[in-house]
Amino acid sequence: MTTSRRDFLQTTAAGVAGLSMMRNPLGRVVTPQAQSAPLSILVLGGTGFIGPHMVRYALQRGHTVTIFNRGRTNTHLFPNVERLIGDRENDLESLKGRTWDAVIDNSASVPWFVRDTAQLLKDSVDRYLFTSTRSTYSDFSQVGMTEDSPQYDPEESAIDERRSQGYGRNKVLCEREARRAFGDRSLVVRPGLIVGPGDPTDRFSYWPIRVDKGGEMLCPGDPDNPVMFIDVRDLAEWYIHMLENGTVGTYNGLGPEAPLSFAEMIYGCRAVTSANVSFTWVDTDFLLDRGLRPYSDFPCWMPARGDRAGFQRFDLTRPLAAGLKYRPLAVTARDTLNWHKTLPAERQARLNRGITAEKEAELLAEWHSTGR
Ligand SMILES: NC(=O)c1ccc[n+]([C@@H]2O[C@H](COP(=O)([O-])OP(=O)(O)OC[C@H]3O[C@@H](n4cnc5c(N)ncnc54)[C@H](OP(=O)(O)O)[C@@H]3O)[C@@H](O)[C@H]2O)c1
Repeated sequence: MTTSRRDFLQTTAAGVAGLSMMRNPLGRVVTPQAQSAPLSILVLGGTGFIGPHMVRYALQRGHTVTIFNRGRTNTHLFPNVERLIGDRENDLESLKGRTWDAVIDNSASVPWFVRDTAQLLKDSVDRYLFTSTRSTYSDFSQVGMTEDSPQYDPEESAIDERRSQGYGRNKVLCEREARRAFGDRSLVVRPGLIVGPGDPTDRFSYWPIRVDKGGEMLCPGDPDNPVMFIDVRDLAEWYIHMLENGTVGTYNGLGPEAPLSFAEMIYGCRAVTSANVSFTWVDTDFLLDRGLRPYSDFPCWMPARGDRAGFQRFDLTRPLAAGLKYRPLAVTARDTLNWHKTLPAERQARLNRGITAEKEAELLAEWHSTGR
């Protein structure tokens, strides 16, 4: 433990003072949830998309954070946080001889990364939180999937051979390595689509950005089609609260709490802009017949049919019981749009997902030419 209790109390008091703008409807200051003691947390990664939100929230809660990475990504972040340099491929030297209360492993998509770090840290770290993925499930045809739904069953021998079996299968093996080393001290979270400020993929961002541009907007498929994602800040805060509470086990990381339709998502995005926009819903088969790809050409959109019927209809009983809380969609949409507007003009003009304005106009013209 590197922070004394007095330091912790001072930090927490400062944090509460900094939160003085957070008031309940009666005007009372809302203080963070009580916690027992500061934790020392090692974040494997920490400087990409999801890691910085976790580091920031952990610091805000009075914890001590160390980050471990190669020193390549967003090196300007967290000048006052201890940074250990290394490489999960072949250099874990800087992790040796150190102790932490908990590790958050964000930076492993191949099982030998987890095997090496988890085996190295199992006697010097209390708990291991591994960031897995919904993509570990092998059958999305079932509605109401839980953490016990079938996963891929990859070949174990691939670990020794350092042979990749693809993202989902690799992550199944990563989970097993975390449990093998830490047993009932392991915590595995399987997020679905993670969205919000800082997301480099634009997979959710496309929608508030597109609504904000205005004009006639193509909306894909059935307005009632379900959609699921998680705001990166909800995920980050949940991670830290689970570490504070000593939570272990396996949890899906998805939201929102109440089922959300694609139309509700689009209209939620509309609530954060005054753009003059109109919506034209274009039939699922019309789009699929023309080679348009769900989740890519139309991010977040996965027609709920056949082997994808349950892709966006997970059962959330377990994460809710473990304290996962959701901020309103409008907050996610507003903050994502505002963050996007801080990016260089060239980056704003070039989204990483979604169809181009030209393609959208072409599809709308063809759709209307059929008399619809
Ligand atoms: N985005 C989603 O929708 C989604 C959904 C489900 C699960 N996930 C999971 O979320 C995690 C990715 O999140 P993120 O990238 O935003 O995490 P992050 O912790 O913010 O960033 C990744 C970090 O890994 C470090 N890193 C990369 N290769 C490394 C290596 N060989 N050795 C040491 N450090 C290395 C990077 O820094 P350096 O480059 O400086 O080394 C960076 O700090 C993955 O586990 C992914 O499977 C994401």
